[in-house]
Amino acid sequence: MRKIYIFDTTLRDGEQSPGVNLNMQEKVEIALQLEKLGVDRMEAGFPAASPGDLAGVNAVARAIKNASVIGLSRSRENDIEAVREALKGAVDPCIHLFLATSPIHRQHKLRMEKHQVLEAAEAAIKYAKKYFSKIEFSLEDAGRTELDFIVEVTAMAVKAGASVVNIPDTVGFMTPYDYGNIFKVVKEQVPGVEKIQLSAHCHDDLGMATANALAAVLNGADQIEGTINGIGERAGNTSIEEVVMALETRQDFYQAKTSLVLKEIYRTSRLVSKLTGMVVPGNKAIVGANAFAHESGIHQDGMLKEKTTYEIISPETIGVKESKLVMGKHSGRHAFREKLIDLGYDLGDEQVNAAFAKFKDLADRKKQVEDEDIRALIEEKLIETPE
Ligand code: KIV
Ligand code: ZN
Repeated sequence: MRKIYIFDTTLRDGEQSPGVNLNMQEKVEIALQLEKLGVDRMEAGFPAASPGDLAGVNAVARAIKNASVIGLSRSRENDIEAVREALKGAVDPCIHLFLATSPIHRQHKLRMEKHQVLEAAEAAIKYAKKYFSKIEFSLEDAGRTELDFIVEVTAMAVKAGASVVNIPDTVGFMTPYDYGNIFKVVKEQVPGVEKIQLSAHCHDDLGMATANALAAVLNGADQIEGTINGIGERAGNTSIEEVVMALETRQDFYQAKTSLVLKEIYRTSRLVSKLTGMVVPGNKAIVGANAFAHESGIHQDGMLKEKTTYEIISPETIGVKESKLVMGKHSGRHAFREKLIDLGYDLGDEQVNAAFAKFKDLADRKKQVEDEDIRALIEEKLIETPE
């Protein structure tokens, strides 16, 4: 089984979510949890962005012993020096250099010709090489870059000494077919590509970040970059928990595996949500409050008979205690009876039927019927029942 490396960027791209600002202590708290989760690499921030971010990256670098700690840098010497300073004390430091390659970015943002992009990137990799043995180079906006230029820049990065080349879909523009194809072509056409790792970094503007990352895996990517809960710029990044659980659940198909400690997923998601203030939507895959909740009678009946009827992942796998059968207007008699037993009521058929009718009545008025509602309903019913 091929190993897929997980590069977590919750503390950098994730922190770029509008409204999110993590202080040094919060960064370290999340980093320590990411270490428990078993991510291979974690990007702690962008040291040149502010003295506070430099200090935050340094605090993470000193705290983490079992993962590579990474600092982001534009392809310029001052930024590289800032990362060098920030990663002092790291057990396994890595610099992440980037430069945009797409025609839109070249023309409007960088005002550079192709050859200037190649030269600036090469100079940055060579400068970083003086201090770092591990260098990742990213072709920003690779998703909208000419395929032959991606091949040319990647070949340059391999030759200049990068250890990982990242091909980001910076604006979430790709479909799985075209994103996967980039990896296929790069693997086929870049000389020496087998000496480096290829990385996928996707954004979710069209809701395809997870699908695109998985397409990259199918076409030879060695590393997936993403964030916990999928937080990040605009619509966010690839959600790590989704990619990891897709690989885990469909190993038959992907023939690839990560080394994450799966039972730490839920705890990590809660911590990131708490410290970033970004609420996880109830229907979010894997970590949403409803991911293991069942409301309809048909589904609840299936779950009570055999959990795999409606669950492809058991909640314990990711550290959630158990599935929930939520009592609402779609719930059936089977689940209602089980709920009564759970609550300690041992009722005969007639009493259950009468209580069930009242429950349905209440469920029509109230979205979710809580245990206390059911207790109240039964106590009232029992009192009302003539001997
Ligand atoms: O989305 C992007 O292109 C990035 C780069 C800095 C890798 O976040
Ligand atoms: Zn990004």
